[in-house]
Amino acid sequence: MPVDPVAAATHADPYRYYASLREGPPLAWNEKLRLWVASRAEVVEQVLGAHGALRVRPAAEPVPRAIVGSAAGEVFGHLVRMNDGAAHQAHRPALQRALAGLDLNAVHAAALQVAQRVPEQALSDTLFSMPLQAVAHLLGFADETLPRVEGWMRDFVACLSPLSTAEQLQGASAAAAELLTRFEALAASAAPRHGTLLAAVLAESAANAPLSRSLLANLVGLLSQTCDATAGLLGNSLVAVMREPSLRPLLRTRDGLQSIVEETARHDPSAQNTRRFVAEPITLAGTPLAAGDVVLVLLASANRDPALNPDPDVFMPVRARRRMLGFGHGMHACPGQALACTLAAAGLDALLRRTPDLRAQQARGWHYRPTAARIPVFH
Ligand code: HEM
Repeated sequence: MPVDPVAAATHADPYRYYASLREGPPLAWNEKLRLWVASRAEVVEQVLGAHGALRVRPAAEPVPRAIVGSAAGEVFGHLVRMNDGAAHQAHRPALQRALAGLDLNAVHAAALQVAQRVPEQALSDTLFSMPLQAVAHLLGFADETLPRVEGWMRDFVACLSPLSTAEQLQGASAAAAELLTRFEALAASAAPRHGTLLAAVLAESAANAPLSRSLLANLVGLLSQTCDATAGLLGNSLVAVMREPSLRPLLRTRDGLQSIVEETARHDPSAQNTRRFVAEPITLAGTPLAAGDVVLVLLASANRDPALNPDPDVFMPVRARRRMLGFGHGMHACPGQALACTLAAAGLDALLRRTPDLRAQQARGWHYRPTAARIPVFH
């Protein structure tokens, strides 16, 4: 059993533990972590829907102390993911509309091409390279710069982990500065390449004025939101294929691959949890919460709640009405869900072409990265 609900995210099998939490109080106080834990789907929806009283960052620390004053801190401080109120609304609608306007057939074809060009390297690195380079391509970066953009982004996301060393934080800041400069240059270049995600975001933002630092930061944010979560979705989809030989016939078609990825996003999601910070006293699910309290929201547990889907522990690529909370809910719900699933399906296709012996790979095993997201490291 996992030692606590945070450690569960990287445990080999956290799902029986989550089921035991769902049997407990709707909001359970965890004394070790000093936070409230929401594990049932209904309560997860209530917590994520309580905008205003609950925020995405603690009031006293909008930007993690370790990166305040650095370029990484600047990017972090502008992200819609990390803001409520005006700063959230300033860019969320444009990002959402631009992402909703993507032609997913074209995205799939482009992502597959980019994925196939990723050089042979450790499988666990490939999980990151394929989706990250695909999003960098969609944004409009030239082919020869994709590996560098990936490198900067992987350095940048290191600053999001509380476990980062001083050296990693320095690297993250250098990477953030580089990414801001590159996006600025890309946006300023005559006109960003027509049809790119960058052109779409700019059009949706009606940004006639020089590009604001906050919009630039949110363009970087599209890469950072892709990074760990989509690597995890791709890796967990591969794990599902290894575990369930009955899925093999589905690997032959794009629809089949897509259905495996979408069920993986419900059954074994990469974003296992998120947090909310209480700004004003509120009673949720009969539990009074005080300003300053923290709620750990177990998205992965909600996905296995029988109240959300019948037979939730069974991996069913075809489900009549699949419901999931692994992409969040409410005002902050992920606007990149369809893109992420398309990228992972294209990545899975490319991975399977270069990993023909799944049984040998499965026999070597895997463990999970010590990150907030659930991402396998294949041995
Ligand atoms: C499997 C991959 C992904 C997963 C599991 C995922 C999951 C999530 C979740 C759970 C949230 C909400 C967090 C919260 O409310 O606390 C979120 C927000 C967000 N995601 Fe994703 N995401 C993924 C991929 C992507 C991609 C590919 C993009 C865009 C390129 C993206 C863009 C965003 C943005 C901009 C937000 C912030 C939205 C807001 O705060 O209004 N995500 N994501």
